Amino acid sequence: MSETFFVTTALPYANGPFHIGHIMEYIQADIWVRFQRLQGHRVHFVGADDAHGAPIMLKAEAEGVTPQELVQRIAAGRPRYLEGFHIGFDHWHSTDSPENVALSQDIYRRLKAAGLIYARPVEQFYDPLKGMFLADRYIKGECPKCHSKDQYGDACEVCSSVYSPTELIEPYSTLTGAKPVLKTSDHFFFRLSDPRCVAFLHEWLEYPGHVQPQVANKAREWLSGEGDRALSDWDISRDAPYFGIAIPDAPGKYFYVWLDAPVGYLASLKNYFDSGKARANGELRGFEEFLTAADTRQVHFIGKDIIYFHTLFWPAMLKFAGAPYKVPDNVHVHGFITVSGEKMSKSRGTGISPLRYLEIGMNPEWLRYYIAAKLNANVVDIDFNPDDFVARVNSDLIGKYVNIASRAANFITRHFEGVIEYGPALEALTQEARWVAGQVRESYESREFGLAMRQTMTFADRINQEFDARQPWVAAKDPGRRAELQDTCARALYGFKVLSVLLTPVLPEVSGRVARELFGLERPLRWDDLLEPPSRVNPYQHLMTRVDPKQLDALLEPAETQTDTAKTAEPAKAPKASPAPGAAAAAKAGPASQAEAVPATIAIDDFKKVDLRVARIAAAEHVAGADKLLKLTLDLGHETRTVFAGIKAAYDPQTLVGRLTVMVANLAPRKMKFGLSEGMVLAASGEAGGPYLLSPDSGATPGMRIS
Ligand code: 2FM
Ligand code: ZN
Repeated sequence: MSETFFVTTALPYANGPFHIGHIMEYIQADIWVRFQRLQGHRVHFVGADDAHGAPIMLKAEAEGVTPQELVQRIAAGRPRYLEGFHIGFDHWHSTDSPENVALSQDIYRRLKAAGLIYARPVEQFYDPLKGMFLADRYIKGECPKCHSKDQYGDACEVCSSVYSPTELIEPYSTLTGAKPVLKTSDHFFFRLSDPRCVAFLHEWLEYPGHVQPQVANKAREWLSGEGDRALSDWDISRDAPYFGIAIPDAPGKYFYVWLDAPVGYLASLKNYFDSGKARANGELRGFEEFLTAADTRQVHFIGKDIIYFHTLFWPAMLKFAGAPYKVPDNVHVHGFITVSGEKMSKSRGTGISPLRYLEIGMNPEWLRYYIAAKLNANVVDIDFNPDDFVARVNSDLIGKYVNIASRAANFITRHFEGVIEYGPALEALTQEARWVAGQVRESYESREFGLAMRQTMTFADRINQEFDARQPWVAAKDPGRRAELQDTCARALYGFKVLSVLLTPVLPEVSGRVARELFGLERPLRWDDLLEPPSRVNPYQHLMTRVDPKQLDALLEPAETQTDTAKTAEPAKAPKASPAPGAAAAAKAGPASQAEAVPATIAIDDFKKVDLRVARIAAAEHVAGADKLLKLTLDLGHETRTVFAGIKAAYDPQTLVGRLTVMVANLAPRKMKFGLSEGMVLAASGEAGGPYLLSPDSGATPGMRIS
C-alpha cells in the first residue's frame, strides 16, 4: 500500500547557524525521504526554526535588535546550507508564527479540558535589576561542596556535584551581576504523572517501531522511576519577560519554549498546506484531513539528547489533545557526531564548519556518502575522521562506482557509437540486480544506511572484478573480439545503472547527471530502472573528482590561519586599532581590507552594537602547538571568558596577568583548534610594530562598559 509520510527533523534554535550535528541529522532524514519517494510514496518533509525562549530573547537584546529580527536574520542563512548539501525540505517555517500560536493554544485548551493542566506556586531566583526569573544557567556562585567560584546554578564543573541554585554560596545573576532574590509565582503544569498518561505512554512505547528498543527502555525507566527519580509533572509556563506564546487567560504567562517547539512541526505543515505548496506536491487533502487519514505516517528524526521531550511529553500532548492531532508513528533517534573522536558541543557548535566545507569547494555528496556509510539504526555516535573520509570516498565513490562508467562508456561510444547490446546472460544480470536491490531496499527502509552502502559497494566490486578479468582493453585491439568487448561493457554499464539507482537517495546530484547526461533520460532515475538495462550511452563526462587530502587540511585548519571569508582581517599597512590577529572571528567587526571600499561613517547605533568592556587578565598561558596564540582568561567582574589572542610574538604571558585591557564582549564565540574563543581583546598594530594591547586609564574596573 502506498503511504504518505509527514517527516520532520528537530527544529534548530534560531540563535545561530547550523553546525555539523544539524547537517548530519538533515542528511540522514533527507536520504530516508528520498528513498521513500523512490519507492513511490508521497512525502511531506518540513522543518522550521525554533524561535522562542530566554536565550534568543537575551541575545537579541544584547545585539540591540528585536527577537523577530534576530530569528529572521538566522532564517535567511538557512538555504545556503540546505541547498548546499542537497537537503530537500519541502517547507521551512518558524515556531514564531500565527499557525503555531493557534495550534499551541488549541492543544493547551484541550489538555486543560482533559484535566491535565493545573497551576501551583513555584519559588525561584529572580534578578531584581533585570526584573526577570532566572533559569539555572543564568545563576552562578560558589559551589557549596568544593567552594569553587563561578559555578552554574545546577552543577559544579569542578567537583561535578549537583545541587539546586538556592544552595550556591553568594549567588549572582550572570545577566546583571545582581544578587538574586527568591520570589514566588504561579506556574502551569502538564500532569504527565496522571495514570492515563502513564498507561498510554507504556502502550505507545510498546508498539513495535514507534521507537528503537533502547529508546523505549530509557523512556520506560523515566516513566517508572521511584523516589527521587519519580516521574514529575512538567512545568510548561514562564513568566514575562519571555519571548514566547501567551498562555490563554493567564496574563504575563508564556508557554515554555519546549511546549510550542514540537507543535512547530504541525505549524510548519499547516503553513505548507495553507500556502498551496502541499497541493503543488500532489497532496489534494486539507491539513486536518491529511493528519487524520489512516495512511498518514508522522515521522520525527531527532538526536539522543531530546528523547525525553519526544517520547514522553510530545506523544502525550498529542494523544490527549485528541483528533485531528495524531501521535507520532515513528521517532527515530540518532547519536551525536564527533570529529576525530572529539565530542562537539551542541550550543557552541564546535567541530567542522559545514559552511567552510562548502566554501572551500568540497563536494557535498562526499559528505552525504560518508555519513550514510557510517549510519545505522541504533543510537550510536558516529565519528568524522579525516583520513577515513578521504580513503572511503576515494575508494568507494571514485575507485568503485564512478570508474565503472568512465571505463565502460568510452569503449561503447568509441567502438559502437553508443549503442549497448546484451548477450544471453541478460536474464541472470537482471535477477542479480533484483536480488541486490531487495537487500539494499530493506537496509534503507530500516535506516541501516551503512549496511546499504556496503551491500551496494559489494555489488560494485563484483562488476569491477568481472570487467578487469575480461580485460576489454585487450579485446578492443582485436576486431575479431568485438562481440566480447560489447558484452563486457554492456554488463558493466547495466551494473553502473543499477548502482546509480541504489545510490540515488545519497547522491541525488550525481544520479540526476547519470540519468540525463550518460543515459539520455529526460527524468530522474526511478527504482524500477534497475530492471531496465540501458540501450544507449553518451560519451562519459566527468562525474566526480577524488578528495584531495589537502582539502581536509583546509577544512580542519585552525581558525587563526584560515584564509577564507571567515578569516580575521589581515593587518593593514596603515596604523590602526585592530583586533589582535587570530584573536577572534573578527572579519565582520574588524576593519575591511584596504582593497575594499570602507564606508566613511557609521551610525552611533552601529557602534553601540559592539559591547566593549574593561577586562582584567586573570591568567595568560602559552597554547601547545600554536605559533601565534596566547590563551587569556579574562575577568569581566561577574564572569570569566576564555579568549585566544594572536599576541604571542609581542607578550610574555606572565607579564600580562593582572593588567586591564579592553575586550569585545558580545562577539559570537568562535571555535578554534585549541578551544572556544569567547570574545576578542583589542590591540593596535601598524608599521611601527605591534600588536599593542589597549589599556583603560587607572580607575576603570573589570566589567565597565566602554562607550
Ligand atoms: O534541542 C534543540 O535544538 C531544540 N531546538 C529542538 C526542538 S525539536 C522540536 F521539538 F521542535
Ligand atoms: Zn564543586
